[in-house]
Amino acid sequence: MKLKTKNLLTLAELFPKEFVALIDYSIILKKELKKGNKPLLKNKTLAMIFQKPSTRTRVSFETGMFQLGGHAINLSSQDMQLSRGETIEDTAKTLSRYVDCIMARVYDHNLLEKLSNSSSVPVINGLSDSFHPCQILADFMTIKEKKGKFKGLKIAWIGDGNNVCNSMIYGCALSGVNLSIATPKGFEPDKSVLKESAKSVEIDLTTDPIKAIKDADVVVTDTYTSIHNNDQKRIKKFLPKYQINDSLMNHANSNAIFMHCLPAKRDYEVTSSVIDGPQSVVWDEAENRLHTQKALLASIIRA
Ligand code: CP
Ligand code: NVA
Repeated sequence: MKLKTKNLLTLAELFPKEFVALIDYSIILKKELKKGNKPLLKNKTLAMIFQKPSTRTRVSFETGMFQLGGHAINLSSQDMQLSRGETIEDTAKTLSRYVDCIMARVYDHNLLEKLSNSSSVPVINGLSDSFHPCQILADFMTIKEKKGKFKGLKIAWIGDGNNVCNSMIYGCALSGVNLSIATPKGFEPDKSVLKESAKSVEIDLTTDPIKAIKDADVVVTDTYTSIHNNDQKRIKKFLPKYQINDSLMNHANSNAIFMHCLPAKRDYEVTSSVIDGPQSVVWDEAENRLHTQKALLASIIRA
């Protein structure tokens, strides 16, 4: 399949049919991998720019390109001329002459906009302060694998209304999964993302985690201290009320699954008993970064 969009910066660039098809394609690629994938990206190169640390994003993109017969170049922004003042626009124009796609993990989402505006090749957001679209592709693949459907499900997001939460809202709008979000006051997700998505799906915003988690099929959280928002004083606004523990999980459906994009701060946003417990699917979720990004790369890189 080929996507209509040139870039994937938020998820909002996708049509609902494309989102669902990408998830189904990821499931096919995962099955095919057992006997080896076709070299769909032979002679294609991905540049990966990292302004911030990463384990999953870096390794899954690089492995994904390798498994599809292509190549990936890891570029720490500190080692690039960017760190000496070369503009992002000039960087984009230069990289476009060498590679077939650029994935970037940045602090400021505006930098991605500038990068993609000056790039003639597709640009993928590998996490910004505002969005993490690749994570949500993996999350919805995991939901499809575990629940077999999207329609009629309810996700509860509990904790910080952060970059991953913003992309989760778009994921729900694209798939038709209902979403209930519980955050402390002042930690809500982006208002314009909420407003835009409320046209397509039911989104409930509350400060009460017990209300949000009731009847949930999927329970999701993330760190209280993101890389771009690392003030440790934030933590006391969340604890103990917004911690996913056994007692809070008891309010969800009995067959609810627990997800976390990782890395997790154990016994802060989630207890070890939950993240290591029988309802947790976090390792499948992490693995699915590989399969969904392969589907994305194969669908966004032009022949
Ligand atoms: N979930 C995620 O993006 O992990 P990394 O920060 O390790 O890439
Ligand atoms: N919200 C976290 C996600 C890390 C994958 C962050 O931005 O650091």
